Amino acid sequence: MRHMGLTLAAAALAAAALSACNKSATSPPADQNAAGSSATPAAISDQDAKKIQATLPAPYNTADLSNGESKFALCQTCHTLVEGAPNMTGPNLHGVFGRKAASVAGFNYSDALKATGWTWDAAHVDTWITDPKATLPGAKMTFAGMKDPKDRTDTIAYLMVHTGFKP
Ligand code: HEC
Repeated sequence: MRHMGLTLAAAALAAAALSACNKSATSPPADQNAAGSSATPAAISDQDAKKIQATLPAPYNTADLSNGESKFALCQTCHTLVEGAPNMTGPNLHGVFGRKAASVAGFNYSDALKATGWTWDAAHVDTWITDPKATLPGAKMTFAGMKDPKDRTDTIAYLMVHTGFKP
């Protein structure tokens, strides 16, 4: 009898823990959205994007930004780009070029990425998004990879324009 009581208590505890877990897993996005909309500066206009693009190194200065934008849709489910926007499944990418890998405060990176010592530049991002798992076994980015080099160039140009890349 006593034993059964304990088992039931344990089951109740487990259920409580589970529902607490579900709660913490579902509530952050709502908070993040709120933070995102208040901290989000106006989107960069196409005209300004073209001006910024002209300052980029080749081949990004002549890349197809609208193709980059449509390919970035693949990343957008996990990554925000503007300054102050929240981390989601992946870290906020504002200022990523020139930044040390795995250095966004409050984001829970894999040990593998933390150990790389990389500084993100176009070449590293290009390799990374070609096939993250092959590039870095143990990485947490569950993205199948972007195999077309032109798509990667266009996506990186789009990222540079929208993450505050400094030439
Ligand atoms: C399913 C979610 C998901 C998708 C889709 C995704 N990422 Fe990620 N990304 C992550 C996660 C998670 C990490 C952290 C990886 C780690 O810690 O190993 C990450 C890390 C990164 C980093 C390193 C950031 C840093 O602070 O060091 C870059 C750059 C990046 N992703 C770019 C991209 C680009 C570009 C795309 C689209 C081509 C993309 N990601 C698609 C989840 C995703």
